[in-house]
Amino acid sequence: MTEGTTRRRMLQLAASVPLAVTFGFAFSPLFRFLLPTRQPLDLLGPSDQPRALEPVTFTDSDFPEPWTCIPFMFQQSYKEYNPEGAEVRKIPGYAVKLPNGDVVAYSRICPHLGCIFNFVKDPDEAAKGYNFRPDGPVFACPCHLSVYDIAQNGKVVSGPAPRPPRKFEIKIEGGSYNIVSLEAGGIA
Ligand code: FES
Repeated sequence: MTEGTTRRRMLQLAASVPLAVTFGFAFSPLFRFLLPTRQPLDLLGPSDQPRALEPVTFTDSDFPEPWTCIPFMFQQSYKEYNPEGAEVRKIPGYAVKLPNGDVVAYSRICPHLGCIFNFVKDPDEAAKGYNFRPDGPVFACPCHLSVYDIAQNGKVVSGPAPRPPRKFEIKIEGGSYNIVSLEAGGIA
């Protein structure tokens, strides 16, 4: 390799550095979107997204019949600027067996203004207490009477709530149901 060729190579290399830096900055929002962190340059660190402290587990035998509803407490860890570096919040939930055999789980935090809603199995009770007669069991909020149809993915069927309650992700392993994470988002 001649001296001229070596110099050309080095100049090419030097010219490519600003180009690489520019591309790096241009794509960093994409990295941040895929892997959100609070450290400005921690592009490859673990995500700061909330995560479960440990899954909540049920087995098939916990749901002996359709519309069995089990309350549970899910512990979610959030990154915080405190001495522990995180804060654990408890999110109440319901796990319900649907008539088709599926088990679903929802946060009990009402998407309207954050009250804790109830599982109401009896349509007569819903009609008396929540001002709406459903066709089957529902979730119903005592604060402003929002009613959610569990059989229709938590659809709002009465009241002021803007959307269904947040759902938990369930991983099924053998005969057990592991509630592993909560749908992202705030109250509403
Ligand atoms: S907080 Fe539940 S309906 Fe308003």
